[in-house]
Amino acid sequence: MPHARLTLDPDFTVGPVPRRLFGSFAEHMGRCVYTGIFEPDHPTADADGLRQDVLELTREVGPTVVRYPGGNFVSGYDWEDGVGPRDARPRRLDRAWRTIETNQFGLDEFATWAEKVGTEVMMAVNLGTRGMQEACDLLEYANHASGTRLSDLRRSHGRRDPYGFRLWCLGNEMDGPWQTGHKTAHEYGRLAAETARAMRTVDPGIELVACGSSSRAMPTFGEWERVVLEHTYADVDFISAHAYYEEKDTGDDTYGDFLASAKDMDAFIEEVVATADAVRARGRHTKHIGISFDEWNVWYQTRWQSSDRANARTAWDVAPRVIEDAYTVTDAVVVGTLLNSLLRHGDRVAVGCQAQLVNVIGLLRSEEGGPAWKQTIAHPFEQMRRRATGEILDVRTTGDQVSTQRFDDVDLVDAAATWDAGARLGDSGEGVLTLFLANRSEDEAADVEVPLRAFSGDLRVADAQVLAAGEGQDRHTANTLEAPDAVGLRPLRDVSVADGTARATLPPLSWAVVQLATARG
Ligand code: AHR
Repeated sequence: MPHARLTLDPDFTVGPVPRRLFGSFAEHMGRCVYTGIFEPDHPTADADGLRQDVLELTREVGPTVVRYPGGNFVSGYDWEDGVGPRDARPRRLDRAWRTIETNQFGLDEFATWAEKVGTEVMMAVNLGTRGMQEACDLLEYANHASGTRLSDLRRSHGRRDPYGFRLWCLGNEMDGPWQTGHKTAHEYGRLAAETARAMRTVDPGIELVACGSSSRAMPTFGEWERVVLEHTYADVDFISAHAYYEEKDTGDDTYGDFLASAKDMDAFIEEVVATADAVRARGRHTKHIGISFDEWNVWYQTRWQSSDRANARTAWDVAPRVIEDAYTVTDAVVVGTLLNSLLRHGDRVAVGCQAQLVNVIGLLRSEEGGPAWKQTIAHPFEQMRRRATGEILDVRTTGDQVSTQRFDDVDLVDAAATWDAGARLGDSGEGVLTLFLANRSEDEAADVEVPLRAFSGDLRVADAQVLAAGEGQDRHTANTLEAPDAVGLRPLRDVSVADGTARATLPPLSWAVVQLATARG
């Protein structure tokens, strides 16, 4: 049986858990907005046309920040089209996804939705077809109090108080040749720096994200970050990173590679940090640039690339079904390891946005006029968002490893952990240790051993939950319209503390959360 030993010490920390790590993303794409979060004719719709079933599930999953309105969509978007009286809003071609944008949902509707969810808004500006002036106009509309054309326009739309959005993306994936208004690193770096400076004159309190690479596999990766940060270092707070993973159907060890995707994410983060720190040293800067990992997920991209819409063989539709991947047990385990990677790097990754929230590679699914449900991947996301509190621990894992086609030294058990010295669970004393674990072995259970000698107080098992294929299921089982709760969490029974060591047995191909709390003194 595979075995792993985790070495932890409450004094060896990475840093506090950044709450913005557990964000998501809502793009005007496919059915994320229309028939996802907004569907005025839906039986659960409220007076604002927002689906309350989706709202309720979103509150449960609880993204701490949601990026909007794109994505590739934003690079051709005129934000003014989406504000003001609905019957005067134009229908437009969205060239990014070859759809019709009705503009029935826009900035004010999104702000209303975010308030109802209780989440922070992360707004993106269009640096594809537009520039500095339009970015400043949008910021003035959103954040300026009153007494100017655009702030008074917002007030005339029923929004008296400024929104005070703090987090702003300077465009989207400008390194990608598919991006409307794609630029070289120098062109983008100059534009991003000028836009950042102009936007800060409108609102000095904002935090700004420059576009990094749209994937680690981009030929420009590394050099793009260096050049963009040479231009923008003093003017931005974060550089973005995007990554999507899939099990490819190429016949090599793609299954093993897929399960090891977090190794790629680890390397990606560490390489962006190294590049940013090199620019810091060269420029004699004092601050550190953080990473906004503002798109990440499992996405079966090769399926999308062969689709009619991607190949422009379909008509222009309103809110068509686009990349509605149905996530399996395997995908949930991989997403759990990606969350672990983000958490392990929480000293430098300040923002994380799982992409996307509903229907489009979604945490959630919804049917027009029908129900909404959680995909398998929503479970590790929700659990980590709820339970990762306090300090991130520097976890050292030793034990069984495998090599895949792409990666050497892949731990069969992937782990991350937090320690919250002031927290209680139920009637426990103060101090909660939380372990996030994934067993990558498809056919063998794995033993995990955690010596607790560094923790003062008597730690006991307070809760342990696992996600794995159940009776009659396999690694391909997904949550569907017919069986929306097929895959979820169940109690993990094989967990105990004895002789100062915690032990757990993880079922094959599983994701688990184990919480140990200090006994009441
Ligand atoms: O999330 C889907 C798309 O993936 C986004 O629009 C784009 O930024 C990325 O390539």
